[in-house]
Amino acid sequence: MLQVNDNFLKLKAGYLFPEIARRVNAFTQANPDAKVIKLGIGDVTEPLPPAIIKAMHEALDEMASRDSFRGYGPEQGYDFLRNAIAEHDFRARGCDVAPDEIFVSDGSKCDTGNILDIFGDDNSVAVQDPVYPVYVDTNVMAGHTGDSDASGRYQGLTNLPCTAENDFTPALPEKPVDLIYLCYPNNPTGAVASKETLQKWVSYAKEHGSLILFDAAYEAFITDESIPHSIYEIDGARSCAIEFRSFSKNAGFTGTRCAYTVVPKDVIGKTADGKDQPIHPLWNRRHCTKFNGVSYIVQRGAEAAYSEAGKQQIGELVSFYMKNAELLREGLSSVGIEVFGGVNAPYIWLKTPGDATSWDFFDKLLSGVHLVGTPGSGFGASGEGYFRLSAFNSRANVEEAVSRIQKLMSSSA
Ligand code: MLT
Repeated sequence: MLQVNDNFLKLKAGYLFPEIARRVNAFTQANPDAKVIKLGIGDVTEPLPPAIIKAMHEALDEMASRDSFRGYGPEQGYDFLRNAIAEHDFRARGCDVAPDEIFVSDGSKCDTGNILDIFGDDNSVAVQDPVYPVYVDTNVMAGHTGDSDASGRYQGLTNLPCTAENDFTPALPEKPVDLIYLCYPNNPTGAVASKETLQKWVSYAKEHGSLILFDAAYEAFITDESIPHSIYEIDGARSCAIEFRSFSKNAGFTGTRCAYTVVPKDVIGKTADGKDQPIHPLWNRRHCTKFNGVSYIVQRGAEAAYSEAGKQQIGELVSFYMKNAELLREGLSSVGIEVFGGVNAPYIWLKTPGDATSWDFFDKLLSGVHLVGTPGSGFGASGEGYFRLSAFNSRANVEEAVSRIQKLMSSSA
C-alpha cells in the first residue's frame, strides 16, 4: 500500500503566497472592474538591466553555433560565475570565500529548503518569528516538528520572537539549538543586524557547535554602511555559517532564476557515531545528484551583474525600489500608521491600525481600496497585528497605493 509523507498533513492550509493569490483571484472574479494593486509577494516589476540582457543575448548566440554550443554544465556553476561572485561579493568586502565554496542554484527558496537533506533529523531548530515561511514549512515536511498549536507555532521548533519591543532583533535561545535560521536584512520585518548582533550569534554558534543558516537575499538593499552584507564579515563565521544569496531581487531574476549558496569547507558536523564530518562534500554530493545546474545563458547574465555597467544599472534598480519604500514609509506615517523597515530592506512592516488582526486588515485593504499586502500573522504568531507591504512595484502603482491607503485611513478616522 502506498504510504504518503504524513508530515505534509501537519502543514497549514496553503503556502502563504499562493493562499493570498487564491483570495485575490476570488476577489477579482467577483469584482472584475477593480484595479487591484499588488504589494504582497516581493516580486520585481522592472525589466532586467541592459548589461544582463546583452550578456544573455550573446550567450544565446553561442548556443546557436556548433563551435560554441554547450550541453550540461558543471552542476555547481561555471567557473566564470563562481570566480566573479567570490571576487565581488566576498573578497571585495574582506571575506574569505573561495570560488569552490560557492554553489550556483536556481533560488534561495529552494536552497534553504533543500539544505535539510544533509543534516540529521534530531537537530533542534530555531527560527525567527515572524519568519520567511519556507524555513518552517520545510522542517515540517522533513518531520522535524510536531503539530501546530492554535497560534500556528509547531511543537519542537524554537521560536525567537522579533517584536517592536526588541527592535525585531531576537534574544539568543534559552536552550541550546543546533540549526539557527537568520535572515538579514530581514524578510518580513525589514530589520537589519549590526556587526555586534551577528558577532553575538557567531559566538553562540561556536560555543554550542550550532550552524547558522544565513539568508542574505536582500543584502543589496542595505543603505547603512555600517551594516554587514555577509555573515563572513564576522570573525569565526567560516566555521559555523552557510550563506544564501540570490540575484532575484537586486538584478530582477525572480523569473529568470539564479542564486547561490556558500558552504565553507571549515563547517564540520558530527556523524551518528560521533566522528567529524565536513559539510561541504555532503552539499556537493547532494547538489550534483539532485540538480543539473543553472542554464549557461542565465549564468552569463548573472556574471554581467558584476560588470561595471551591470553594477551601475543594478544600483539604479535598487535605488528605484528603495525610493518606493521611502514613499510608502512617509505616506503611511503621515496618516498615523506606525511603520518599520523600508530603510535597508524593500519591505515595510506596519502595525495594523486600531486592533485589526493581520487578516482583517488584509480584507479591509482588498475590499476597501483594492490593495494587496501580506498579513503579518502569515509569517508567524509574533507577526499578528502587523502587515507587510513590498516596495517592488512601478512608481505609479506605489504612489497610487499610498493615496488609496491615505483615503482609507481618513474615511475610517
Ligand atoms: C516574499 O515575498 O517574501 C518573497 O518574494 C518570497 C520569495 O522570495 O520566495
